[in-house]
Amino acid sequence: MNQEHRKSIIAGNWKMYKTISEGLDFLNEFIPLVLDSQEDVYLAVPFTLIKPVADLIKTKNSPIVIGAQNMNDASEGAFTGEIAGKMLKDAGAKFVILGHSERRHLFHESNELINKKVKRALLEGLQVILCIGETKEEREGNNTEEILKTQLKDSLKEVSSEQLSQVILAYEPVWAIGTDLPATPEIAENTHRYCRELVSQVWGEQVGNQIIIQYGGSVKPENAKQFMEQPDIDGLLVGGASLSPETFAKIVNYQK
Ligand code: PGA
Repeated sequence: MNQEHRKSIIAGNWKMYKTISEGLDFLNEFIPLVLDSQEDVYLAVPFTLIKPVADLIKTKNSPIVIGAQNMNDASEGAFTGEIAGKMLKDAGAKFVILGHSERRHLFHESNELINKKVKRALLEGLQVILCIGETKEEREGNNTEEILKTQLKDSLKEVSSEQLSQVILAYEPVWAIGTDLPATPEIAENTHRYCRELVSQVWGEQVGNQIIIQYGGSVKPENAKQFMEQPDIDGLLVGGASLSPETFAKIVNYQK
């Protein structure tokens, strides 16, 4: 199976940006710009925006898929300040980003915890965008493959091949996130191919061929096409450039 058989998903990650009115303004401007797009468009928004934005999408009959950027691994409980997967789903989220490097590094999330979150999200019926990626030091020390292997295997421990159809991988080299220094398409492609092979080794070739792997890290309208042309890159995870409707629409419409 080759790339033609996998759909591509372009996702925006708003991180801790936008109030409710800013989010609604964004979508009112963005939706008409991507009306005839061939890509599946996902948007990971702050918790407070999930419900209003999901409602707006429904009213406008737009295929944009709304999701969250984190969740707790428990189904519910006395965990002040945390949010449960079923609450996200109830508010209108269809997916959740897990294992983002900002969660791993700033909030010290381990592969073990991410694994618990992944399993909980899948149980609750949420799709998962699982982020993996090496730091600059790890790449320079030739440890990229080892790091990615550990992140991938440990974060997806005890996840079945069937469940894996609900998991999208996002390769996000930490050195490329928010730095304006994206990976070259070649580096990204080679790393994606390595990740796909790893998935094939653990879950079988069919699963490896089917899994969607996004690239993330300083994606801009100027480089989106180069990434998307690579055979093992099936989508993009866009941070900064997803905050402006015109810029994100240019990325979604990279084929035009
Ligand atoms: P960036 O962020 O596009 O701003 O580099 C990507 C991400 O963190 O998902």
